[in-house]
Amino acid sequence: MCGIVGCILKDNDEDVAPILFDCISKLEYRGYDSIGLATYDGNIHVKKDKGKIDEVNQKLDLPNMPGDFGIAHVRWATHGDPSKLNSHPQLDEENTIAVVHNGIIENNTKIKADLIAEGHTFKSDTDTEVIPHLIQKFMDEGFDLEHAVRKTIEILEGAYAIAAISSREPDKIVATRKDSPLIIGLGEDGYYLASDSPAILKYAKDIIYPEKGEIIILDKSGVVVHDEFDNPINKEVDTINWTPEMAEKEGYDHFMIKEINEQATAVRNTLTQRDNIQKIIDDLDDVSRVCFVACGTSYHASLTGKYLLESLAGIPTDVILASEFKYSAKTLKEDTLVIFISQSGETADSLKALDVANQTSKTLGIVNVAGSSITRRAQYVIQTQAGPEIGVAATKTYVSQLTAIYMFSALMAENEELLDELDKVPDFIDEVLMDVESIKSMSKRYNYAKDFFYLGRGYVYPTALEGALKLKEISYIHGEGYAAGELKHGPLALIDEGIPVVIVIPPGESHKKTMSNLEEVKSRGAHILAFGADNDYELKNKSEDVFCINSEVSEIISPLVYIVPLQLLSYYVTIGKGFDPDKPRNLAKCVTVE
Ligand code: F6R
Repeated sequence: MCGIVGCILKDNDEDVAPILFDCISKLEYRGYDSIGLATYDGNIHVKKDKGKIDEVNQKLDLPNMPGDFGIAHVRWATHGDPSKLNSHPQLDEENTIAVVHNGIIENNTKIKADLIAEGHTFKSDTDTEVIPHLIQKFMDEGFDLEHAVRKTIEILEGAYAIAAISSREPDKIVATRKDSPLIIGLGEDGYYLASDSPAILKYAKDIIYPEKGEIIILDKSGVVVHDEFDNPINKEVDTINWTPEMAEKEGYDHFMIKEINEQATAVRNTLTQRDNIQKIIDDLDDVSRVCFVACGTSYHASLTGKYLLESLAGIPTDVILASEFKYSAKTLKEDTLVIFISQSGETADSLKALDVANQTSKTLGIVNVAGSSITRRAQYVIQTQAGPEIGVAATKTYVSQLTAIYMFSALMAENEELLDELDKVPDFIDEVLMDVESIKSMSKRYNYAKDFFYLGRGYVYPTALEGALKLKEISYIHGEGYAAGELKHGPLALIDEGIPVVIVIPPGESHKKTMSNLEEVKSRGAHILAFGADNDYELKNKSEDVFCINSEVSEIISPLVYIVPLQLLSYYVTIGKGFDPDKPRNLAKCVTVE
């Protein structure tokens, strides 16, 4: 989704545009189609257009703009096509106010109609353009920039993180938010705002997290925050422990492959959360039911949680897609624990569900981004320790979520044996990564495919779903994940000569039945790519392609390890097709609209 940044430098003689450009480029991963900057040095200067950052920069030389403060934006179109006019910053009629916005103004049509009736003319098709026009209207009525922004948000409905500058009241940036992420950075050389921390890691480590309706004023002397009733307030300052290098490629071709390679470390670091998780469990007291709520990859991690909690701790567990929560979660009680799984902590569907769950039940967030909205709104928080994930496709955050869920379930069930097994997972992951060449050559044999099926049973059923999602989101090949036993209830009709079927088949209780499902598809002409134990000779005999995993990886911990070769397969198939796995079309890292 869109990303915003802003910066005001303490030094009047330094130009802010190179810094704005650097910061906004770090938000490329959020998914975007246009980029724009506005700076001020006596007048507001704007450069913006649709296209990739590099293309637009070649045309417009974005870092070359005068002025020591400004704002910038990457746009992910919602209202109006990607175009120069629809790119942000959006301006008022007199080019005295520039605004960047992440979110959606739901009542923009009505506001626009009212402003047109008052004589305003609009240039773009965006919902955002109403914001500078409203600020203009209130400044014309005599309000200063801060209070014009305050009056404006009284009218806006929807989600927004906004930053505004004005030539009528220079040397400050005014920002505010509701339901879209925004952080404020206190740096040595200036003050910053951004949708996400990787944008400003290089410049500021001390961070303030604004809440809904607060107005933040950044000027050369510092940052002032006013609450929704216009009272000045002191905000807690947190320090980010992520380093700028963590958000760089560090020699890898793509963030995705770097992040796949960081998974053993991500699991190891997340395992350090054991004491925190135990404290939460001690405090929770009486939980008779668990309900996981999540989207996408995080939903797949949640499904594994159901298998674990029900079989280990005997706790009835539901898993609900966050976007379906309001239609389906009708029986939450005081002793229900609702667990929100999210790498970004900003997913709009999950946040809406969290607000509802907080009214009746206990809530726990398992989140990777410190200070994100879910961490601030959930009653309990487990912080996964994956570090910043820049690739749009979730990889290391997924195994970190799984790790936290495994620890939570094992501690709920007081299962020391499983906790000991978890300690071995990082080494098992590293073993898979050492055999990357097998996956590379396997991927070359399947570039032709238009459809893939992924089958898994029991603990690795969610692994099959996640493997298929990874394939489709970055390679644009149709991939369907199924519970292996479900295929004959319909989808088997689609199995045809040569269709690749990925079988995830660890040793254990489910093995025999999955082997029968393998036979079913093989006898209908499917081409089998199996992921199983290195001593599984039966599997080797029956499959065209086999990737071998250490036979000591037990069925219960297999989701943490077997997903890694599936991620690699998607990555190398995508590279073979010449697509950029870090920035899949139409997708965004942080989905801040419902
Ligand atoms: C896929 C992916 C998405 C996210 C989903 C939820 O690789 O990353 O499916 O898992 O958008 O996002 P979070 O986890 O941030 O709530």
